[in-house]
Amino acid sequence: MSNKNLNHLHGEKEFLNLSRDREKIIKKTSPKANFEYTANQLAKKLHPKEQFVKVAQIISLNDHVKTFVLQPDESAGTLKLAYFKPGQYISICVEIDGGIYSRPMTLCCSPKCALKGEYRITVYRVENGIVSNFFLDEVKEGFHFKISAPLGDFCYSSIRDHKNVLALANGYGILPFISMAEAIFDDLLDCHLTILYEAKTKEDLVFKEKLDDITCKSKNVTVVYVLSEEDDNEYESGVIDKKLILQFKGEENSYFVSGSTSFYARINDLLKELDIAKKFVRHDLFRGEIELKNDEEFSLTVLCGEDKCTMKCRGSETLLQAMEKNGIAAPNHCHVGVCGFCRSKLISGKVKTIDENIRMADKVYNYVHPCVTYPESDIILQLPN
Ligand code: FES
Repeated sequence: MSNKNLNHLHGEKEFLNLSRDREKIIKKTSPKANFEYTANQLAKKLHPKEQFVKVAQIISLNDHVKTFVLQPDESAGTLKLAYFKPGQYISICVEIDGGIYSRPMTLCCSPKCALKGEYRITVYRVENGIVSNFFLDEVKEGFHFKISAPLGDFCYSSIRDHKNVLALANGYGILPFISMAEAIFDDLLDCHLTILYEAKTKEDLVFKEKLDDITCKSKNVTVVYVLSEEDDNEYESGVIDKKLILQFKGEENSYFVSGSTSFYARINDLLKELDIAKKFVRHDLFRGEIELKNDEEFSLTVLCGEDKCTMKCRGSETLLQAMEKNGIAAPNHCHVGVCGFCRSKLISGKVKTIDENIRMADKVYNYVHPCVTYPESDIILQLPN
């Protein structure tokens, strides 16, 4: 800020006096003083670097979907779980066969649960999904995990969003909206939520009972089920289209989109056709599309401080996937190129990457997000320390 502005706001003299007085107070303070500002204490509670949890209960929704109830692992030092906003996720860290894997998992419960000492995540089977299959087949009650603080900004904000929220979901994209619907029911979120929930068949609507229960009790939550591969008069049939959006949207709306990559592409086209301003459209984490030409095997050398490690990485796997498989705990959270946490310097080599969330300066200085970057030659990568 320039001196001119400072003068305008406070007066330069007052400002200089203030900083001189502060210096005097700091000098007088004993170096042993164990003092922490209340704001810093609160920040640590809301955004802990890491949390430790144990699996308290497993609820099987069907053969391929389970909800895991997580509670603080006091033996590892976590006494309370950090509060979260509906729509946020946690990154959960698992060790499987010598590999170290982290995955973002949506918190699918009301924030009220955190106050009671509980998080809920729902895991569904993904073909060849190392972590999802591990959770569904191996994890038992009593298992312990390290998780991140709640993350992400797929959240309703009364100062930014319209009071009418039209949620557009397909498949397991419904998970963040379970949290939002429960938060509305618990009076923690003041908006009207209409969910257009698209699934293939009735069997795929794993949260229908819960959602029906909420819609019966809360006038601020409405759910419209849309079946794409089954006909039933009680449901909308086909896919979410322009007609359905126009039928169920309110006067002024914010649009929240969550689902598969192809779903995002389809819904974004529809919203564009309807002339919806981008500022009223929010997306949950999703990976952009990328065309990969080869599955050749390359060498990936990872530098971190004094350490150096070389491993194999196929053209069809991300640099982060190769590191995970080889037990390298590289920083990461979102896995879709958005959070920037894995940002690393490409020292040498050719890559194919989804760079829509990379800053211009990072592109110039050869920084990449290894979670969405694939090798096209041998690679040397410098990890953040
Ligand atoms: S893990 Fe978030 S950008 Fe890579």
